[in-house]
Amino acid sequence: MSPVISYATYGQAADYVKSRLSGFSPEIGIVCGSGLGSLADTLEGNIIKIKYEEIPGFMQSTAQGHLGQLVFGLLSGKRVVCMQGRFHCYEGYTIQQVTFPIRVFHLLGVKSLLATNAAGGINPKYEVGDVVLIADHLSLPGISGNNALVGPNAVEFGPRFPSISDLYTPRLRRIAAKAYLTNAVLREERKLRMHEGIYAWCFGPCYETRAELRALQSLGADLVGMSTIPESIVAKHCGMEVLAMTLVTNKCVSRRERDTFEEMEAELAGQPLDPVVEAFPNHEEVLVAAAARTADIQILVKSIVNDM
Ligand code: 6GU
Repeated sequence: MSPVISYATYGQAADYVKSRLSGFSPEIGIVCGSGLGSLADTLEGNIIKIKYEEIPGFMQSTAQGHLGQLVFGLLSGKRVVCMQGRFHCYEGYTIQQVTFPIRVFHLLGVKSLLATNAAGGINPKYEVGDVVLIADHLSLPGISGNNALVGPNAVEFGPRFPSISDLYTPRLRRIAAKAYLTNAVLREERKLRMHEGIYAWCFGPCYETRAELRALQSLGADLVGMSTIPESIVAKHCGMEVLAMTLVTNKCVSRRERDTFEEMEAELAGQPLDPVVEAFPNHEEVLVAAAARTADIQILVKSIVNDM
């Protein structure tokens, strides 16, 4: 069992952050996903930046493409806080550590969470650079014991047995869909495409095997990624509205690996074989694909926040 983070520890972090905000109280929390950190650079008004290392109890980001600071300011006139750099379980943090900032956001008065991420597209309709609103999730680690809320329940945050049937707030999904559908620049000029889909959370840091991808596909997953689900559950637990959005940064190749036995049989029989085109996911392509859509995601998020 991982050590439990006490209610007081979240409180100390929140008190420290408040002491730096001169009365500013964020209403919306935004988590910037892999390669999407520059979202935080679009904030306006009086910007306040607090490095994670300055906040008592906060973890440090180690993932490439993730800075490590909270950025406070205005976006479309709304008071927001951005996490420029998130934490992942694959870095070795416990789920309580990964979700620590979300509870600190709650104590700062944040009412809605907008989480972004980069993930692989399993649904064959998805192309690199498409945006997907997360309608629901599959959490294989969660249902097998690595749920974000395992451990003594702090009732100050929420109930022991929360329902997460409507985790991804329908009201916010409608706002996001409208923000996209009514924006001709994003749709026609920038050729941005939007879908709604199911996100499968995998622990990482390995990408999935082809057999695992086929299994996830058969379970109904449209996307696969290594983040967002722990934060979304913890946000819902403490009463926040949640909107989660994925940028597809690579297409998952889940077809069956060539059967070496059949290959040898064909080779010995003198039959020609089709060349195998292999595609392996890698972090560089994820960051490149994210960078290519950064400006579009910024426009989209700004428009969504305006209507929240
Ligand atoms: Cl293919 N898998 C996972 N788990 N996370 C990803 C990804 C794939 N592509 C981007 N993030």
